[in-house]
Amino acid sequence: MGFAARYIELRDFAAKNAQTVENDREKFSAPPSRARGIVSRPGQPIFDDMMANEQMSVSRVADREKLPLLLDKARQFAGHYIDSLEGRPVFPSEKSLRAMHALVEPLPENPSDPFLVLDQLQEIGAPAVVTQTAGRYFGFVNGGILPVGLAARWMADVWDQNTAHYVMSPINSRLEEICERWIVSLLGFSEETAAGFVSGTTIANFSGLCAGRNELLRRRGWDVARKGLYGAPEIRVVASADAHAAVHKSISMLGLGSDNVELVPVDDQGRMRADQMPKLDEAALVVTQAGNVNSGAIDPIGPLCEHAHTSGSWVHVDGAFGLWARVLPSMRKTCEGIEMADSWSLDAHKTLNVPYDSGIILCRHRDALMSAFKASASYFQWSEHRDSMNFRPSMSARARVIELWAVLKTLGRQGVRRLVEQLCENARSFARLLSEQGFQIHNDVVFNQVLTSCDDDALTRATLQNIQRSGECWCGGSTWHGRAVIRISVCDWATTPKQIERSVRAFVKARAIAAH
Ligand SMILES: Cc1ncc(COP(=O)(O)O)c(C=O)c1O
Repeated sequence: MGFAARYIELRDFAAKNAQTVENDREKFSAPPSRARGIVSRPGQPIFDDMMANEQMSVSRVADREKLPLLLDKARQFAGHYIDSLEGRPVFPSEKSLRAMHALVEPLPENPSDPFLVLDQLQEIGAPAVVTQTAGRYFGFVNGGILPVGLAARWMADVWDQNTAHYVMSPINSRLEEICERWIVSLLGFSEETAAGFVSGTTIANFSGLCAGRNELLRRRGWDVARKGLYGAPEIRVVASADAHAAVHKSISMLGLGSDNVELVPVDDQGRMRADQMPKLDEAALVVTQAGNVNSGAIDPIGPLCEHAHTSGSWVHVDGAFGLWARVLPSMRKTCEGIEMADSWSLDAHKTLNVPYDSGIILCRHRDALMSAFKASASYFQWSEHRDSMNFRPSMSARARVIELWAVLKTLGRQGVRRLVEQLCENARSFARLLSEQGFQIHNDVVFNQVLTSCDDDALTRATLQNIQRSGECWCGGSTWHGRAVIRISVCDWATTPKQIERSVRAFVKARAIAAH
């Protein structure tokens, strides 16, 4: 089945459940259990004698026979949420936010009826949710959720695998091996590249820079895992002046000191200038970026790698959302040479629309990655298969690769390409429509990011505030070359041209209100 057919299938899935709900915020604040005829019995615990029994055992509230009913209830609430997507305000109303105060209470002394607990979550939690998956959320770089990823996540949640060792979860271990190969092939990296599956790019950056730091020190005869950084040969960090905050956070966590970073000037799109690189040597960790968080621009990573490798430096690529550009034929030239880097971080929860949280660390030097995270204990049980904790900082972790596998298997190579292309097309049409309405566009829209503004900063800020309050769509703000801008990140497969038109109308209205 081609992507178009798969795409239509996915859309139909959402559309089948979607009934247009009037844009009535109060409706979403109403207790949905009543709205949907889901019967809860306030004050009447499901286990009648539960409260009376002082020596209550956990099995009274965790009764496996009741589990299907509990899941049915969750399923109905989820259905209600999906039904409401079209009409929900993207950001919760003031009333819904205030209602969360009802959750503030001392830890209950006695057990509660789990059905009533779910009711309360639905009644107070659901209206306070940010509607990130309805196609009208353009904030930060938050991805949507592909239906098969969500469904696979539900299955994985029921399985509740811990994934440190193969013996804890053979299925996780096998799917990690498979996804490692698939992603390496999708991105066109060399066969020996290893992948670790982590919570997001912050931890992936940390992992890549940790592997790089340790390897540079190892080459100079220093075992940092044993000896630490006290008395170690110096490590330099060379990074873009526009590096993401997550890079600086990782550098701080690694004991390298964010004050010590040698910042490389950037061009007008936020790309590192290769001609402004300091002299590199075998002590340098070079941090590049595929996807500037504001403009979406990609550093000239190929030329930077050539330069860095002649001097024995390590090159890491922060590719959170933009590394996916490697799958686009139209971006081939821009992405040329990225495969020469030593490590790369990548998110599946952004551009690939896999459920949160899901990040990937890729490293061309398998041994360097694995030795950064080695640990031992008498109770560990190693196997001849993949023991996942060797590829990431954490030992225990959920089996997040299950959703990733389901999404990659469903989309296939062409589907991934089409998904990324679609996000870029939508970003371009968003920019075009805004420009037609007199908004300024500040970046070359090369990927999924658009930076826009009104004629002056005060109007831009007031317009952004009105957009955020409107409930129609949601964007964040930033500053770009000294100007206040509105940041648009198109990162949800569910965004349609109609939703972009609707969002542009919201921009125009928000500006008109702000101008009065
Ligand atoms: C370029 C870049 N690096 C790192 C991050 C942090 O990623 P995460 O939130 O997955 O940890 C982001 C988030 O938007 C990003 O855009």
